[in-house]
Amino acid sequence: MTLEIRVTKATPAPAQALARVVFEGEQEATGGASSEFLRLRRFQAKPGEAVVMPGEQSTLLILAGAGRKETLDAEKLRRVLAEIVRSAWDCESLLVDLAGVPLLPDPNEMIAAAAEGVLLASYSYGKHKTDPRPCRLGSVSFTLGDQGPLSEAEADAAIERASVVAQGVNLARDLVNDPAGDLYPQRFCELAAEVAQSVGLGVEVWDEVRIKEEGLGGLAGVGAGSARPPRLLKLTYEAPGTEGTPPLALVGKGITFDSGGLSLKPAGGMETMKTDMSGAAAILGALSAMARLGVRARVVGILALSENMPSGSATKPGDVLRARNGKTIEVLNTDAEGRLVLADALSLAAEQNPAAIVDLATLTGACVVALGRDIAGVFSNGEGIGSQLKAAAEAAGEKIWPLPLAPEYRSHIDSEVADMKNIGAPGQAGATAAALLLAEFVGEVPWAHLDIAGPARSHEERGYQHKGGSGFGVRTLVRLASSLDPAAL
Ligand code: BES
Ligand code: ZN
Ligand code: ZN
Repeated sequence: MTLEIRVTKATPAPAQALARVVFEGEQEATGGASSEFLRLRRFQAKPGEAVVMPGEQSTLLILAGAGRKETLDAEKLRRVLAEIVRSAWDCESLLVDLAGVPLLPDPNEMIAAAAEGVLLASYSYGKHKTDPRPCRLGSVSFTLGDQGPLSEAEADAAIERASVVAQGVNLARDLVNDPAGDLYPQRFCELAAEVAQSVGLGVEVWDEVRIKEEGLGGLAGVGAGSARPPRLLKLTYEAPGTEGTPPLALVGKGITFDSGGLSLKPAGGMETMKTDMSGAAAILGALSAMARLGVRARVVGILALSENMPSGSATKPGDVLRARNGKTIEVLNTDAEGRLVLADALSLAAEQNPAAIVDLATLTGACVVALGRDIAGVFSNGEGIGSQLKAAAEAAGEKIWPLPLAPEYRSHIDSEVADMKNIGAPGQAGATAAALLLAEFVGEVPWAHLDIAGPARSHEERGYQHKGGSGFGVRTLVRLASSLDPAAL
């Protein structure tokens, strides 16, 4: 169902649910609920808190906490709206009173964040349930007071942009949530081609024969054990007037299922490994949003799609693979497959003479140990791309944190028989070892690697995140493409 979001400064039409935003210390002024009721209910107006009570004529009145007024920012507002949507899940219409909410410092950004909160929170993945119970909201209105210079037309435009981005995130979530039995490399390419067709992206697909012909030994080696063959998918977006300019290259790990291969994972470790194509999914989601927004940029997406399966034809520990750029990798653990497929995809990206390369990959459990499930690790070979990516992520409300591409640890991936091996020193700097291997394939191009093994999947219902694929990275990439400054790389 489509959800329409509007703003209104006039008296709005009545809705099934009315939501008010309450700041800490202002619980008194919440028309409809006595402060004694709120005290008994232990409502403190912390961010993420919501109280639902009967409103007029069988409607819901929702009081949503937002913390201290002076600390409100775009990300907190996203979460406030998410809590409101969760409380109004079965209502068809919702009115959110934003008249007393300071939309600072940038009212357009704050309205966009509110809309994103609504659209990301109202997502659900129900296609395999008999009774899916999706969010029933069809219309959400924000009432604005005298919020400075923001006109209704400007607010509508901000909401429109936010919904395009949120649809990109939700597309990525759908792809991650699809079972690996349904979404294998070839199917991913078919879906991507449909998306590309509808938004206006270029598509090129290489099958397993072409993959070998083109010298993509990493991707061919990882795909060797599967009944479903690998694919290399190239997506292109070119805004008018950007022809011939160096593109931004986006590279995605697209392992549609990671069993570990012959270095088989234990059963528990495999349960969520349909998630291992989240980097690829985020790039497709982001590119579809960029095209629909008409972002002024030239972007190529290179997605390495494969299953990682054990079989009689699978790559074995000790095998040596030759990547696209000619470098060789000794495979000592077939479960460290992401870096093998990325070696080829990054080589191809570097051949495009791009302004910069950014890759997204659910690459290492070590990164989850270091930064947990909410924060992605970021490695870069230059200050410029690292700081531009950090700024884009911050503006988008996604958390990334720098980890070192430490040359002192390059020896951890030295191999006795090849140019490098695909594992580092046991128990030491595992995320860095993986990143150091990737660095061998980008040449001199400014490059940043996002290890999204933690945040690609949400393990709980929290804020605007639902259990399952999070769509992490889509919002950051759209920002980066919109704001990339080639002179500062
Ligand atoms: N896909 C996994 C990484 C991963 C782990 C993603 C947990 C999301 C959650 C990756 O292919 C992998 O298995 N990496 C190994 C590397 C090791 C064998 C050097 C790991 O992290 O254990
Ligand atoms: Zn693996
Ligand atoms: Zn993997």
